[in-house]
Amino acid sequence: MVDLLPVTLALLSGLAFVYLLLKHFAKEGCPSKLPHGNMGWPICGETLGFLKSHKSNSMGTFLEEHCSRYGKVFKSHLFGSPTIVSCDHELNMFILQNEGKLFPVDYPKPMHQILGKFSLLLVSGDLHKKLRNTIISFIRASKSEPKFLHCVENLSLSTIESWGGRKEVAFYKEAKRFTLNAMLKHLLNIDPEEPLASKILEEFETYIKGFVSLPLRIPGTTCFKAIKARVRLTSIFKEILAERLKGDAGPAEGADCLNVILSKQNLSDEERVSIVMDLLFGGYETTAKLISLIVYFLGQAPYSFEKLKEEHQAVRKIKKDGEPLNLEDYMKMEFTNNVIYEAMRYGNVVKFLHRKALQDVKFKDFVIPSGWKVLPVLSSSHFDPTLHENPQEFNPWRWNGNATSKKVLPFGGGPRLCPGADVAKVEISFFLHHLVLNYRWKTKADECPLALPYVEFTRGLLLEIEPTEKSFGRNPL
Ligand code: HEM
Repeated sequence: MVDLLPVTLALLSGLAFVYLLLKHFAKEGCPSKLPHGNMGWPICGETLGFLKSHKSNSMGTFLEEHCSRYGKVFKSHLFGSPTIVSCDHELNMFILQNEGKLFPVDYPKPMHQILGKFSLLLVSGDLHKKLRNTIISFIRASKSEPKFLHCVENLSLSTIESWGGRKEVAFYKEAKRFTLNAMLKHLLNIDPEEPLASKILEEFETYIKGFVSLPLRIPGTTCFKAIKARVRLTSIFKEILAERLKGDAGPAEGADCLNVILSKQNLSDEERVSIVMDLLFGGYETTAKLISLIVYFLGQAPYSFEKLKEEHQAVRKIKKDGEPLNLEDYMKMEFTNNVIYEAMRYGNVVKFLHRKALQDVKFKDFVIPSGWKVLPVLSSSHFDPTLHENPQEFNPWRWNGNATSKKVLPFGGGPRLCPGADVAKVEISFFLHHLVLNYRWKTKADECPLALPYVEFTRGLLLEIEPTEKSFGRNPL
């Protein structure tokens, strides 16, 4: 009879060896611990599928299909790099909170030449802290500054009044004009009627188109034109700053906020100009997109529209005829605040952010490998039915209480949390005040907000407008 003991022992020690080997590789972050996914085609990977346009109030088929096949965190190959895509709210918060230490920003190289080397979005460490502090001082000085509030209200009124007698407006263009003029007036004391304001608006349009273009630095391409527009904008702002610094007559009327930037001795001229560019870039398109999304969603949500109008009628009722809005009025606009946040959740002004992993990072039961690109998708948690009841419904009332605010990240998070959120909210609230008191509107049936991946409107948000019977507005100051 064969003695089974040595065979059994050999088998057991073989199994133990395989177990230890597997354990070792798991500890060292062997590729089997990578999230599942698909690396797509050579070179372009899955970038085209990821960027394919879809309604901005949806996840899009690429993310829906990938999440249902591989889970909320999956691997892919995007923007020329192996990438971990995260549609997991907990992981997204972890990524953003650990920005400096584990997951620094990592915008694609072609965006660097358009943004410029001192852009806050690109710099890190002490330089980031220095430039960000200046921007935060500027924003703090702005949001409670009566001159800023009056400037925003006057521009809201003049934009809305310019529609007198019209039956249709291309709203997105109007919103961009309003938000850029608000920043130009407040930051550089440039009036909307000045030819320089139109010139800057035109240059900014060209500049911004560069962000969604092919990275070809060849004359005639959108990317090339954007880089040239940046050079021209930089020289306009350099000249304005130099003139302001030269003037020994003190700050020009309304120019106090620029003085916040000029008064910082530790900034070079190039850094100051870059701050101006960041404030205009950050403050203009995103805010215009959000106002437009609100107007689009309200056009299809009559109860929300009526509730919003009631809130603004109540604010106006207790004011004297022609009295301007102030900070106390803004604080009363609670439902307006709900509408703003619900439009951000439902419409997704910023769909995803760019980060990379500095080292292997273990999250739950998988590993994010060092050097890989990491994309936290902000829109994913907005439609997650485990976080929000009926996520496919525009419902501003879900923002009563503060439970919903813990489940979304529309302004990002961590050390790069958007510093301009309060400025955007004041501009939007004041604009909506005069809009809902003076007009009703309808959107066209074939109009819809698209994620390209930045929000755009199929027909520029063409609205049919009708003045209300009794308007409660006031004349410009
Ligand atoms: C609806 C309006 C807005 C939205 C949805 C928005 C969203 C965001 C998000 C998601 C980030 C984080 C980027 C990242 O982590 O990589 C960000 C950063 C930034 N935003 Fe905003 N933003 C808005 C309005 C504004 C306004 C009005 C300003 C300026 C007046 C502004 C200036 C900036 C700047 C300078 C940064 C860079 C911060 C840093 O890297 O430290 N934003 N914004």
